[in-house]
Amino acid sequence: MTAVLGIETSCDETSVALLAGDGRVLGSAVASQFEAHGRYGGIVPEIAARAHLTNLPPLLEDVLDQAKASLPDVTLVAATAGPGLVGALLVGLSEGKGLAMGLGVPFVAAHHIEAHALSPFLDFPGGRARPVPDDFAALVVSGGHTHLYRFTGGRISLLARTRDDAAGEAFDKVAKMAGLGYPGGPAVDALAARGRAAAPFAVPRFSDRSFDLSFSGLKTAVKERLKALGVAPQTGVPEAVKTRSVESAPASLADLAADFQEAVVAQLEDRLSLVEDRHPFSLLTVSGGVSANSLLRARLSAWGKARGVEVLLASKALTGDNAVMVAFAGLVRLRSGKPGEGLSAPARSRWPLESLE
Ligand code: KG4
Ligand code: ZN
Repeated sequence: MTAVLGIETSCDETSVALLAGDGRVLGSAVASQFEAHGRYGGIVPEIAARAHLTNLPPLLEDVLDQAKASLPDVTLVAATAGPGLVGALLVGLSEGKGLAMGLGVPFVAAHHIEAHALSPFLDFPGGRARPVPDDFAALVVSGGHTHLYRFTGGRISLLARTRDDAAGEAFDKVAKMAGLGYPGGPAVDALAARGRAAAPFAVPRFSDRSFDLSFSGLKTAVKERLKALGVAPQTGVPEAVKTRSVESAPASLADLAADFQEAVVAQLEDRLSLVEDRHPFSLLTVSGGVSANSLLRARLSAWGKARGVEVLLASKALTGDNAVMVAFAGLVRLRSGKPGEGLSAPARSRWPLESLE
């Protein structure tokens, strides 16, 4: 029996999971560090690394309990090797390598973005994974990435990427300016649901006709509107601390959140359409933290239906960082016959997905 142990420590979530060979999740646990970082208004790398060290052992025990398994049952270990915070990555990567060596099983150094891109093929919780086809497009929208890739016959190419902020970063910055705390995505999502998008922001395009995206202008435009509304932009520490709840926010701020969210989704739709016109694809996976966004989920599903593209959204529980997707990426890599560097893989802060073999 195949049992893949996955370990994820690339950023501020510590996660461990055990996956069966057919992609069923046997056990999964995530420890978030929101409280440890919340007061700083962003992630502090040193705090993240220390928290991973403390969190990993009890999570591993919990996952083995859930799966009614023990370490000798593990047949493959996969841990995220990058991209991410090097100190944080090293904790999970070293743990994973040590376990694989001790158990005498193969080790896959997983790519965090590949793991996100493949996560929509998983059926969480309980179901079997869908076979990963030879050809598909993958939109990864997270705190660090807003990238569109094409997977074809084992090759990965980059079709479009943000040239400045990632979509999640824009959500986090807007939330910070509006005093909604960190992480900002879920708060802006909830606030936007109470508002009405009525004053659209322009969807930017590059004059070189590239498919790339940009969210920094939108962030500045939101800042200006916040000023005009008399809602003082919040910056720096300790002002980054949450100063208002979604419930107590004025209606004008809810409308602004709705306009902002609309602008993010409209730009994603715009680029997907441009890319699909030029390089048609029949399947698109959508993953990463921002793919939890309610407007994005509804609109990209509708976009797919209108264009005859099957849009596979990551299960909501797998949109944020998790080890289930890491175990799955490890399994897919091992089976593809391209397991990567294995035990010799270093932790990498930057690691372009399209550079993978
Ligand atoms: O994939 P992820 O957990 O971590 C990275 O690899 O970056 O993504 C985190 C990002 C954060 O920017 C967070 O604010 C955003 O995902 N996010 C959301 C929502 N939930 C999380 N953005 C918009 N709407 C949401 N519901
Ligand atoms: Zn991520």
